[in-house]
Amino acid sequence: MSDAESKTSVKITIDGREVEAEDGELVIAAAERTGTYIPRFCWHPRMNPVGMCRMCLVEIDTGRGPALQPSCMIPASEGMTVVTDSDMAKKAQEGVLEFLLANHPLDCPVCDKGGECPLQDQAYSHGPGESRFIEEKVHFEKPIPISDLVDLDRERCILCDRCTRFADEVAGDPLIHFIDRGAQTQVNTFPDEPFASYFSGNTVQICPVGALTSRAYRFKARPWDLDQVESTCTSCSVGCRVAVQSSRNQVLRYQGVDVDAVNWGWLCDKGRFDFESIHAEGRLGEPLLRADEGHVTATWSDALGRAAGAIEAALASSGPSGVGVIGGAQLTNESAYAWAKLAKGVIGTDNVDAQLGDGLPAEAVLGLPRATIDQACAPGGTVVVLGVDPKEELPVLYLRLRHAVVEDGVTLVEVVPHATGVTGLAAHSLVHGPGAVADVVAQLLAESPADAGGIGAAALAAAGTAVRSGPVTVILGRGNLADRGDLVASAASRLAEGLDDVRFLSGLRRGNVHGALAAGLAPGMLPGSVSLDDGREWFHDHWSTVPSDRGLDTEGILNAAADGKLDVLVLLGADPLSDFPDHDLARRALAGARTVVAVDTLPNPSVRQADIVLPAAGYAESDGTTTNIEGRISRLSQKVTPPGTARADWVIAAELAYRLGDDLGLESLDDVFAELARVAPSHHGLTAEGVGIDGVLVPLDRDDARTDARTAEDPVGLQTSGGDEEPTADVDPEAAEAAAEAEAADTEAGEAEAEAEATEAQADAEAADAATPDEGDGVEPVADDEGEPAGPGLPAPVRFSATAVAVPSPDTYSLRLLTTRKLYDLGTTTQASRSLAKLAPGAVLHLHPHDFDRLGVEADGQVTVSNREGGRGSVTVPVRPSGTVPKGAALLAFLQPGGQAAELIDASAVVTDVRVEVAR
Ligand code: SF4
Ligand code: SF4
Ligand code: FES
Repeated sequence: MSDAESKTSVKITIDGREVEAEDGELVIAAAERTGTYIPRFCWHPRMNPVGMCRMCLVEIDTGRGPALQPSCMIPASEGMTVVTDSDMAKKAQEGVLEFLLANHPLDCPVCDKGGECPLQDQAYSHGPGESRFIEEKVHFEKPIPISDLVDLDRERCILCDRCTRFADEVAGDPLIHFIDRGAQTQVNTFPDEPFASYFSGNTVQICPVGALTSRAYRFKARPWDLDQVESTCTSCSVGCRVAVQSSRNQVLRYQGVDVDAVNWGWLCDKGRFDFESIHAEGRLGEPLLRADEGHVTATWSDALGRAAGAIEAALASSGPSGVGVIGGAQLTNESAYAWAKLAKGVIGTDNVDAQLGDGLPAEAVLGLPRATIDQACAPGGTVVVLGVDPKEELPVLYLRLRHAVVEDGVTLVEVVPHATGVTGLAAHSLVHGPGAVADVVAQLLAESPADAGGIGAAALAAAGTAVRSGPVTVILGRGNLADRGDLVASAASRLAEGLDDVRFLSGLRRGNVHGALAAGLAPGMLPGSVSLDDGREWFHDHWSTVPSDRGLDTEGILNAAADGKLDVLVLLGADPLSDFPDHDLARRALAGARTVVAVDTLPNPSVRQADIVLPAAGYAESDGTTTNIEGRISRLSQKVTPPGTARADWVIAAELAYRLGDDLGLESLDDVFAELARVAPSHHGLTAEGVGIDGVLVPLDRDDARTDARTAEDPVGLQTSGGDEEPTADVDPEAAEAAAEAEAADTEAGEAEAEAEATEAQADAEAADAATPDEGDGVEPVADDEGEPAGPGLPAPVRFSATAVAVPSPDTYSLRLLTTRKLYDLGTTTQASRSLAKLAPGAVLHLHPHDFDRLGVEADGQVTVSNREGGRGSVTVPVRPSGTVPKGAALLAFLQPGGQAAELIDASAVVTDVRVEVAR
């Protein structure tokens, strides 16, 4: 692990070979790192050792003579001698396997794990070859569902304690346990308490047998059917590395890949199981044009011609401001850049926003000094969670934070409008009333704080001491969609000014929102994290035009459309009718825009209303790069072919530019990457090789830029990060390779994939050349993130400072609306994933018990909630008391079945006050 680097090393001998180990490094890990594999079942490099299975018994001599010891429990010490293949060690290992198999059903032919099963593999490599047990084996009902996503076959369980430890130690969801005793010992859940964890799929991946299986993958394929590429999850912005596995041009599974800097091999269930949306029914494969009775299919030529005609008409009648572009956070960095260039550099509009009114000002996201996840989680530091609920919005970041607090003594302070998934980990939990975040932060930083936002002065003083006592990472996000993002941004600005050693980690959740903002898909910004004003001159040298004035954000674009002032509204993978927090405004906007062009992968309410629909290649269907919360750029890989004639978003941008009589000058993905690296100041000097296997932080000269954990020689990062016994994602690479060859030879789809891979390889090679910055172009490396002046010609990155926002007082009869995100909702991708679609918890209004009694409502009774100002819809939902909601607040989650909080929110208001009445 990361702190091992600071430890001293010791010399030990393994099978006659002297090797160096870190002092305290476990023998099993030191042996693996230096090339000797010791069999194991219970040990996992990312969990505390438990010594349950005894499979790793080897002879260890620490000076008192050799003895059989579990190598996963013994730390290396100076002069230690280890023998892994002596007769005694072999006999012990054979004995352990014989015992494990005594009750194992050996139903390998019908077991999902067959072919990638450590029990199967180690029975061959380290087993006795035959068993002396002839007795009847233990039987359990098989399999039983323990959650909506996971089945348990108890007969196959070898009681290794991996799943139970993961659930308890790593996820903090102790929902699976050992129960009963002796031969009847089994893993199971408590009655009526399903394994309802956001991380349950990890137990399937780390189970060393087929006891835990994924319902989405069950009986779908064998490992030798699968071919895989490594990619990056874009279901949220943490950027977990994944292996995308497919068979016959169908993605069938994602497996977590261990990357030291980011996800440590873990995935959340949303990221793991939403692969089902790739091949969902209704995927858009052909362009569509609106006709009298819905959409009709069209040729690309007609659809692009119609879109270009609408944009030309808009330019003629209203100028560039007649065009607005919303979305782009689903796009790759390259596609986001191409669309930014089309919108700002060809059309000339700055009405462009990748966020849908649920984020933060782009200047705050890009202009505050940035932290990495490792910096946030470094022992001895303090993390301030400001607004966001990491467990619901950035689940694997939550796992890293949990480890940092529980194992590494990091102090967590939360300043949030409601209790969150990290409340139980927080040394100081400051739950404030809606809209009070800036006041609370001001008092947190004060020498002698006063009460603020419903929090007492003593609590603020105690938390203030923690915040001032060490390096601080602030994770900032939008904890309440019913108040304005400026409030959190203003609080963050106070922290930036008031603390000496502070960095920020953005908690915005959309997949590549950070890449989209950095590529210029935000009003007032240009590619490379520079402001429109600072970058105008530079980009005039590279683009046909640059917007003359700052444009509108999503709310402004929708208002312009609603007022009939927008000729063309382009939706880039955006569904404002569902996803914008003010549904009334979104509806009026889509009705008011003269032409709506939707570029998307799946139909959604906004796509269904569009005049022109251009089908885009989705996740795993195109190559590119993405940028995570840290500013880490990593690769996305194509694995399957897109449906129909769907094409990459950057290609669509380039073709539209051509039809507008311009030329983006981007003919290949490599061209886009190279241009981004050449003209975007924060990306300046980036090369395809520089992205590496684990990504690279931009700007390149950040003082936290780190060397990749994995290299070509060490593809799973074992040298630095531990790693599991199987290379990437537990798939035997030889089997996968053989499968790929067979597939490529036997199937048409395989041919397509082989061709795609060849193209990819060539593209990589070309990118290496193309992405090398032009020599002698007179540019210097970009300025650091402190905003120092850039080299000649290059504009400096934006710096953020906020202005205070006045918050109106509530009246006596209203409650202030709190609208939060849940991991599962009615979002398009989640609903297109069969396994996840039904997991959205549903709309329930939560009130503090004080308000609950004051209103005279009954638990689970129906209430009607309406905006205090009127003029909006109302929702009727069940109500429940909750001690985690502040007094005076009404908590209703966003985009849930049964009642839409977005019917109540007025995007123009600083906060949203509502009336709650018993439903009639
Ligand atoms: Fe180990 Fe799998 Fe049994 Fe859990 S279910 S204890 S991971 S064998
Ligand atoms: Fe994907 Fe985010 Fe989940 Fe990681 S935390 S697996 S990036 S959705
Ligand atoms: Fe060491 Fe299980 S006891 S791997």
